[in-house]
Amino acid sequence: MGKTSLLIVDDEESVIKLFERLARKEKISYASVKNGFEALDFLGKNEVEVLLLDINLPSHSGFQILEFLKSTQNLAEVIVMTGSGSVEQAVKALKMGAFDFMTKPFEDLDRVMRNIHNALEKHRLVRKISELQKPQKVLNHYQDLVGRSAIMQEVYQLIESIKNSSATILIQGESGTGKEMVAKAIHTTSTRVNKPFKVINCAAIPEGLLESELFGHVRGSFTGALYDKVGLFEEANNGTIFLDEIGEVTPAFQVKLLRVLQNGEFKKVGSGDIKHTNVRVISATHQDLKKLIHEGRFREDLYYRLHVIGIHLPPLRERKEDIPILAYHFLNKFNEKLKKNIKEISVEAMQYIQNYSWVGNVRELENVMERCVVLVKGESIQSKDLPEVFLNNRRPSSVSLEFDLASYSYKEAKNIALESFNKTYLQQLLKQSGGNVTLASNRAGMDRSNFKKIIRKYDIDIHEFRRE
Ligand SMILES: Nc1ncnc2c1ncn2[C@@H]1O[C@H](COP(=O)(O)OP(=O)(O)OP(=O)(O)O)[C@@H](O)[C@H]1O
Ligand SMILES: [Mg+2]
Repeated sequence: MGKTSLLIVDDEESVIKLFERLARKEKISYASVKNGFEALDFLGKNEVEVLLLDINLPSHSGFQILEFLKSTQNLAEVIVMTGSGSVEQAVKALKMGAFDFMTKPFEDLDRVMRNIHNALEKHRLVRKISELQKPQKVLNHYQDLVGRSAIMQEVYQLIESIKNSSATILIQGESGTGKEMVAKAIHTTSTRVNKPFKVINCAAIPEGLLESELFGHVRGSFTGALYDKVGLFEEANNGTIFLDEIGEVTPAFQVKLLRVLQNGEFKKVGSGDIKHTNVRVISATHQDLKKLIHEGRFREDLYYRLHVIGIHLPPLRERKEDIPILAYHFLNKFNEKLKKNIKEISVEAMQYIQNYSWVGNVRELENVMERCVVLVKGESIQSKDLPEVFLNNRRPSSVSLEFDLASYSYKEAKNIALESFNKTYLQQLLKQSGGNVTLASNRAGMDRSNFKKIIRKYDIDIHEFRRE
């Protein structure tokens, strides 16, 4: 995360220019944006110390940004800028937690600068206190989400920080990366937890039906509408709706969604009555919505409405350190489900698993683990038990500790290191003795039958070592 001391948010070029000049003079690092959406985007990517925020902005009002900052426990201090005479706005902003307000046009620039310096000072103080209080702990899981990578820690923290917010959330990520699970975790953590969580897959339902699923319909509004139907926006009132595959909805439907997001109003199909709803909307897509907007297939204003907070779930191949913990999580899950007792995944098998491309992401890993648990007879999953495509990948060069031990707990890491050592040792012994078990076991100072047992345990083929 980059750090910026002052973020200027105003659609007026002259205001931006003024503050940029002042900031340069005072050697304060700064950035400027022209609308609410850019501001949110910037705040998501950078640590900002003080915001100079115009209240009347295109795309989001300054109040919405203020609300977002407070609900996400962002520590940036906010100085709002209002037109002269709008005392009410200033008071409202202060009540929402703004540090101070300034009215335009600015007459006393010295006072303006003092204000900014005071806000910077307060921010630094508050930050210091909060850092002293914050224990940094790596979580292996959060709710039902498993993973210990840095990126998952960020996801956990974000979910935690938006507990009290009702802002819309857009989750983007490839298929199988856990978008629906994240949506569920957000709902469960939020204050809406005791209200409904409704899921709808927009790609799976034809447009006409989608409208009546979400908004409901009145009897007789179309052929087959024999009864009144309550839609999800009504059913999920005070709860959460998860709109999956949002990239698939038609332009006509996008307009209707926009309306309900803008003012919480909708009409049932076939009815003129306006209904009100209070629903937190989380949407998800595997598509690149920016690209769809560019191609004219997705409304930009709807995108802004859906995307007050954005979560990007990276593909599994970009967070390989999550693979072992997920693999063991699924191993346990299917052991229980299928009443099996497979205790481990061999080091070599895990190397293949970690090196695999996982285009189907976590879902594919889950499926592969289920298959292994069904098929494996013994107590450990070996590389030969993996689907053939895994073995077509580059074979891990001997059994080594090539991969990241730090992604395991101490106990797991020790077992891995031990297994790796045992395997290498046995292989070297057998190589030296040309695959002669008696000779090898003598050299190792071990009983022949014990030695054979260990070779079997590690799935070592002695024929490989026999000399012609
Ligand atoms: N972090 C995780 N921890 C545990 N299980 C996970 C995790 N991520 C995904 N899964 C599992 O992987 C499967 C796919 O997850 P989910 O349905 O949330 O993905 P998705 O991104 O919505 O996929 P799609 O785009 O295909 O709808 C589910 O069975 C889920 O239980
Ligand atoms: Mg999904």
